[in-house]
Amino acid sequence: MFIDTHAHLNYPDILSKLDEVLSRAQDAGVEKIIVPATTYQTSLQIAELVQKHDMLYGAVGIHPTELKDFDESHLRGIEELARQSKIVAIGEIGLDYYWEPYDKELQQRILKEQFRIAKQECLPVIIHNRNSTADLMALVKEEYDEGKLKGQFHSFSAGIEEARQCTEMGFCISFTGNITYKPNDSTLLAYEIVKITGIDNLLLETDTPYLPPVPFRGKQNEPSFIKHTAEKIAELKRISVEELGKITTLNARRLYGI
Ligand code: NI
Repeated sequence: MFIDTHAHLNYPDILSKLDEVLSRAQDAGVEKIIVPATTYQTSLQIAELVQKHDMLYGAVGIHPTELKDFDESHLRGIEELARQSKIVAIGEIGLDYYWEPYDKELQQRILKEQFRIAKQECLPVIIHNRNSTADLMALVKEEYDEGKLKGQFHSFSAGIEEARQCTEMGFCISFTGNITYKPNDSTLLAYEIVKITGIDNLLLETDTPYLPPVPFRGKQNEPSFIKHTAEKIAELKRISVEELGKITTLNARRLYGI
């Protein structure tokens, strides 16, 4: 009934109890989970992990905050891993101008290279954005190639106008458990964006182990908690959580070919 499109299940403190986490996810109606990488090393790890579990699919890529040990050979490695059958996206990639020090130029170059790998391999991208909306939108538009670039803006954090532009280009967007938090400026903006976004452009995600939904704040997030985020989004869209689960699952299947 649900697809969790973003869960970092390869982190050591989740990996050590993965069987329990996956069985709780299944009990909660999660049928498939996409595990995004953040480095070349974790891309290798995830490509192997998804071979061992039916319900897992992987994304390979280099995260903008993980460029410290970057080497050009990593891009060739990502390109090769992208051809494996259960690798369904290039991600998580993007820009991040929050964690200092950051190198804007390097981040943009690596993002562009990974957009090109995605287009060449006909795979969608999973996009991360923190304090970098203007540069990111400019780059996405530049590399859009009449729809050859497609994908998901995960943990959406830009504004209403950008949400409109993303969905007009055919991208999907998703929110994490933070949409269930007490209304503040960013929650209220997320409500507005969910309301104006076409339901065919919405996906569900947990961003495990971060940002657990109410009532699990302070705990380690996991895919089985997805229904609490789904309930909030269903309420905003004025449909049942079953209907939302069904539609977002179809959206994820279509985008990721799973
Ligand atoms: Ni993530």
